[in-house]
Amino acid sequence: MTTETLPRPVAHPVFGHLGRWGKDPLDLLTEGAREGSVFELRLWRRALVGYRPEWNRAVLGDLETFRSDGSLSGLTPYLAGGVVHADVPRHDERRRELNPHFASRALAAAADTLREQTELPQGRFEALAWAGRTVRRMLNTVLFAGRLPDRLLAAFLAPLDQPGPRALVPRPLLFRRIEGAIARVVTNVPEGSLPAALAGTDGLVEELRIALAAGYDTTAHTLAWALWHLAGIAEWPAWTGVEPFIDEVLRLYPAGWLGSRVAAHDTMVTGVPIPAGTLVIYSPYLTHREPDLWPDPDRFRPGRPRPAWGYLPFAAGRRTCLGTHLARLMLHTALSAFRVPSLTRVSGNPAARTGITLRPEGPLWMEYR
Ligand code: HEM
Repeated sequence: MTTETLPRPVAHPVFGHLGRWGKDPLDLLTEGAREGSVFELRLWRRALVGYRPEWNRAVLGDLETFRSDGSLSGLTPYLAGGVVHADVPRHDERRRELNPHFASRALAAAADTLREQTELPQGRFEALAWAGRTVRRMLNTVLFAGRLPDRLLAAFLAPLDQPGPRALVPRPLLFRRIEGAIARVVTNVPEGSLPAALAGTDGLVEELRIALAAGYDTTAHTLAWALWHLAGIAEWPAWTGVEPFIDEVLRLYPAGWLGSRVAAHDTMVTGVPIPAGTLVIYSPYLTHREPDLWPDPDRFRPGRPRPAWGYLPFAAGRRTCLGTHLARLMLHTALSAFRVPSLTRVSGNPAARTGITLRPEGPLWMEYR
C-alpha cells in the first residue's frame, strides 16, 4: 500500500476535509473508519488516522518516532507546555519526577478531603455546571492545597467549558494572573500536600497550570455523563460497583477522543508507509466503538472485558495520562456520594460533541431529592 492509495472519506475538491472537520469531526472519523483501518484526512495538513489496537500500540509505544512537538495539543495555550509538550528524553525525565506524586498511594491522603468537596445538589440542577464546580474545587484541593482563589480558577477554566474554538485563543493576561497566583501558592503550602512534595521542581508553576487544564474539562465532562447514566439505574449494581461503571462511561465518551503525534522520520505502521512530518492520529472514540473489539458497541454495559490496546481513555504507554489515578479518585468520590435511586433525569441532550475534549451537548437537567 502506498500513502496515495489510502482510503479517505468524501472530500471537497479544494478544501479537502477541512469543512467537515470544522462541522462534525465525529461523523467524518466514523465515515473514515468504515473506509479502512487506516485512512487519510486532508486537513490544513495531511493526517493519517488509525484506530485498531496494532496502530495504537505502534503509535503510542514509540515515543522516539512519534513526537508531541508539532501535534494538535500545541494549538491550544491550555495544553502547549510542560510535560504535555515535552518529547523524549526530556519527557521521560519529567515523568519520573512527576509520576510518584500522582500515583494512587500518594493521593490516598487526599481522599477524605475530596469527599468534603462533594456538595451534593439539592432539587433540580444542571449536571454539567455541577460537575464543573465539583471538579474545579477538587483540583484546587489536590493541586494547590485549596489555596487558589476560586474566582480566578473559574475565570481561567471557563473557556474549556465552552464548545467551539474559545480554548484555542491566547489569553496572555489571564495566564499571567493564574501563573502568578500558582507561584504564590507553591511557596507557602502545608507539609504533606502535593505542591509541597513537588517544591523545587524545575518549571513547577507551568506543570501545575497544565495539569489543572488537562484535568478539568476531561474529568468534569466524564462526571456529567456518568450522572446522566446513573439516573437510569435503581442502585449501584452489585455485579459491578462504581469502577466498572466509570470504565464504561469512559469507553463510550472518552474525553480524550483524539490524540496526535508527528512522525520524526519515514516509518511504516501496520504496512502503511508514513513519511516524516505526517500528522499521525489515534482515536479512543473510534477504538472504543469498534464492533470487533466491543460487541454491540453503542450499548452502555459495565463490566465488559477490555481488549489490549483497545481501551484507551487515558491513552497508554509512557505518555499515559499523568492524572489517571487522580481522575478516577475524583470520579469515584463524587459518584459514590449519591444515593442512586434519588437521582432522576429531567430533560437534556447528552449527545457527544467535540472540542478540545469530548463533551455532552447539554444542558443536562436532573433532579436529586
Ligand atoms: C477523565 C479524566 C481524564 C481523561 C479522560 C484524560 C485523558 C488523557 C489522555 C487520553 C491523555 C493522552 C494524550 C496524548 O498524549 O495523546 C492524557 C494526558 C495527560 N493528562 Fe489526562 N485525562 C484525564 C484527567 C487528567 C487529570 C485529572 C490530570 C491532572 C493531573 C491530567 C493530566 C494529564 C497530563 C499532564 C497529560 C500529559 C501526559 C504526558 O504527555 O506525559 N489528566 N490525558
